[in-house]
Amino acid sequence: MRRKPWVVAVVQARMGSSRLPNKVLEPILDRPMLQHVVERVRQAQTVEQVVVATTDRPADDAIETFCRTRCIDVFRGSEEDVLDRFYRASSAFHADVVVRITADCPLIDPAVLDKVVRRMLDENVDYVTNRLRYTYPDGLDVETFSFAALEKAWKEAHLPADREHVTSYIRNPERFRIAGVENATDLSPRNLRWTVDEPSDLQFVRAVYERLGGNGNRFGLPEVLALLDSEPELARINAGGIRNEGFYSSLAREEAVPPRSRSLVTSMALLARARRVIPSCTQTMSKGPTQFVHGVAPVFLSHAKGCRVWAVDGNEYIDYPLALGPVILGHGDPAVTGAVTRQMADGVSFSLPHPLEVEVAEMLTGIIPCAEMVRFGKNGSDATAGAVRAARAFTGREVLACCGYHGWQDWYIGSTTRNRGVPESCRALTLPFSYNDISSAERIFREHPGRVAAVILEPTGIVAPRDGFLEKLRELTFREGSVLIFDEMITGFRLALGGAQQYFGVTPDLACFGKAIANGYPLSAVVGRREIMSLFDEVFFSFTFGGEALSLAAARETILEMQRRNVIGHLWEQGRKLQDGFNVLARIFGVASRTDCRGYAPRTLIGFRDETGAESLLLKSLFQQECLKRGVLFAGAQNLCLAHGEADIDETLRVYRAALAILADAIRCGDAASRLEGEPVQPVFRKA
Ligand SMILES: Cc1ncc(COP(=O)(O)O)c(C=O)c1O
Repeated sequence: MRRKPWVVAVVQARMGSSRLPNKVLEPILDRPMLQHVVERVRQAQTVEQVVVATTDRPADDAIETFCRTRCIDVFRGSEEDVLDRFYRASSAFHADVVVRITADCPLIDPAVLDKVVRRMLDENVDYVTNRLRYTYPDGLDVETFSFAALEKAWKEAHLPADREHVTSYIRNPERFRIAGVENATDLSPRNLRWTVDEPSDLQFVRAVYERLGGNGNRFGLPEVLALLDSEPELARINAGGIRNEGFYSSLAREEAVPPRSRSLVTSMALLARARRVIPSCTQTMSKGPTQFVHGVAPVFLSHAKGCRVWAVDGNEYIDYPLALGPVILGHGDPAVTGAVTRQMADGVSFSLPHPLEVEVAEMLTGIIPCAEMVRFGKNGSDATAGAVRAARAFTGREVLACCGYHGWQDWYIGSTTRNRGVPESCRALTLPFSYNDISSAERIFREHPGRVAAVILEPTGIVAPRDGFLEKLRELTFREGSVLIFDEMITGFRLALGGAQQYFGVTPDLACFGKAIANGYPLSAVVGRREIMSLFDEVFFSFTFGGEALSLAAARETILEMQRRNVIGHLWEQGRKLQDGFNVLARIFGVASRTDCRGYAPRTLIGFRDETGAESLLLKSLFQQECLKRGVLFAGAQNLCLAHGEADIDETLRVYRAALAILADAIRCGDAASRLEGEPVQPVFRKA
C-alpha cells in the first residue's frame, strides 16, 4: 500500500517588516498573530505538521523563543533566499507535500486550506493554489506544492525575486503542472484585504477578532463575510492597499533584463517597398511606423499566438496593443479558430441573410442593457456613423455633441485637427465637450437650442466618471429630447461583457460596439432602443459585407468563451497586477512624478510627463525603445487578454523594471534624447 503523503504546512514568519515591524508577534485579542495563524493551520484536517520557518537573523530569535515556549516546530534559514529556507525546512520535516502560509494572514481559513490541499492530493499536479485567480480575499492565500517541485525550483531558480518569493518560479505552467481552486463566489470585485502589512490592516483584523473571536470562538470566511455585510464600514478601515507589493518591490532588486539581439532587416526592406505604394505605410494610423521608435521597432508582424506576436524578422514580443483592442481571448484562440474554420467550410458571404445574424443579435440583446435591436457593421466607424445618422433621423435635428474618439467618418473627424477634406458645413455640426465637465455639454445645448440630435461619448477612457457625470448626461439628454449614445468600442467586452453601461449602471439610448466583440475578426454593432433602432428600416445603413459570416461565427464563439471562462475577471486581475507592479516600480526608481499607469485594469495607459507636467513623447519613446529591445510590444495603452497569464505579466514587469531604471537614469542625467536610438514617436493628432 502506498504511504499517505506527509503534508507539512510551513508558516513563513519574520520580525522585520518595513511598514509594520514585529507584526507577527503583535497581539490580536489575547495572543500574538503568529499563534492565531498556527492554531488555524493546525485545525486543517489535511495538514500533518505545522512548522514556522523564520530567518537566522538575531531579530528573529524572538520568534524562535516564542515557538519553543508554545511547542511549535521552528526552523531557521536565509532571510533573502526564502526558497532555500523553505526547501531546507521541508526537507528537515520530511514533507512530501508542502503548504505555504504566511504569518501575516491571521484570518486564514482551515476549510479553504483543506480545499486547496485536497485538490493537490487528489490530482496529479505539482502546484495548487487559490490565488491563480483572486476569488478569495487577500489574506486567505494558500499555496501547496510537491516536495519534488520545490526541489526542482530550488535547483533551477536563480533570479532574486524567484528566490525571495518561494513559488514565483513554480507558478509557471510551462515548467510545472499547476491547478487553481476558486471560491464559489468571485470576491475579487470587493477588493477585500485581510492580510496585515500596514497599521490599518492590523486595526481591521483586531476589529474582526473582537467581534467574532471572543472566548476562543472559531470563525472562518463565511462568518467574516457576514460580519462585513452587517458592518460594511469595517472593510473601509484598510481599503486601498496594494496586493503583492513585496513581489513587485523585489523585482527592483533583481539585475535588469538585458536587451535581446534582434534583426530588423526584413522589416526595413518591407518598409521601403511600402513607402512607394502605401501612403503613410499603414491602414491604421496607430499601427503605423510613426507610433514606434524608428530603427528599434519592428514595422511588420507576421504571426501571433496567445499574447505573443512575431515580427517578420522572427523577433518575439509580448503584445499589449493587441491590434488596438480586438484580441480579447488571445491571438488564434482555438475555440474561435475552430468556429471560423467550420463556418468557412459552409460559406463566407451569402446572397440572403444568414441565421448567424439573428443568433448573434439575440445574444447581444441578452448581454447589453440598452440593446433591444441590433445592426452589424465591420468597423467601429460604421457603427458610430450609423448611430448618429439614426439619432438625427429620430430627432429631426443636426447638431452632435461628442467626447472622445469616434472613428474616421466626416461627421466626427471633421471636429479634430485631422480634418482635411471634410466640408466646413459638416464640421460646423459636431461640437466637442469635455469629459467630467457637465457644464461644457450643457453649454452646447444652450447655444444650440432645440438643435442637438445626440450626445455621443466614450463612457470612460482612462479617467473615471466623477460626480454622477454619466447620470447627469442621461438626465440632460432626456430633458432636451436628444439621443444619448455610448461609444463602447473600447469599454465594450472589456470593463464588463455588457460594457461600461453595465459597469456603471447608466443605460444610453444607443450604443456602438466593435473591437473585442469577435476576438479580432472585423465586426461592429449599433445596438439600442427599439423605437430608434426601427428607423434603420429607412435610414440607410447597408453594405456588402454587413452580414459576413466568419466574423459572426467568431463573435458567437467569443461571447460563449467569455461567459464560459470568466474572461472579464481575468482581465481585471492580470491588469491590476500589471498596473500595481508598474506603479510600485516607478515609485522605487523615483520616477512616479514622471510616469504612471492609470485607468481601469482591463485597459490601462502608461503616461509620461516632462518636468512641467506636459505629456512627454520623448520619455515615452525611450521607455518604448527599452521595452522593444527586451521583447515587449509597448505603445502606451495596455490591453489585457485571456492569454496574458501570470508568467507573462511577471516577464513584462521584469522588462518594465529594466526600462524604468534607464528612464530614471536619463531623467537624472537630462540626456533622454541622446539615448534614443531612432526617431521619437509622434502624436496621431496634432494638438489643436
Ligand atoms: C472609442 C472608439 N470609437 C470608434 C472607433 C473607430 O473604430 P474603427 O477604427 O474600427 O473604425 C475607435 C477606434 O479606435 C474607438 O476607439
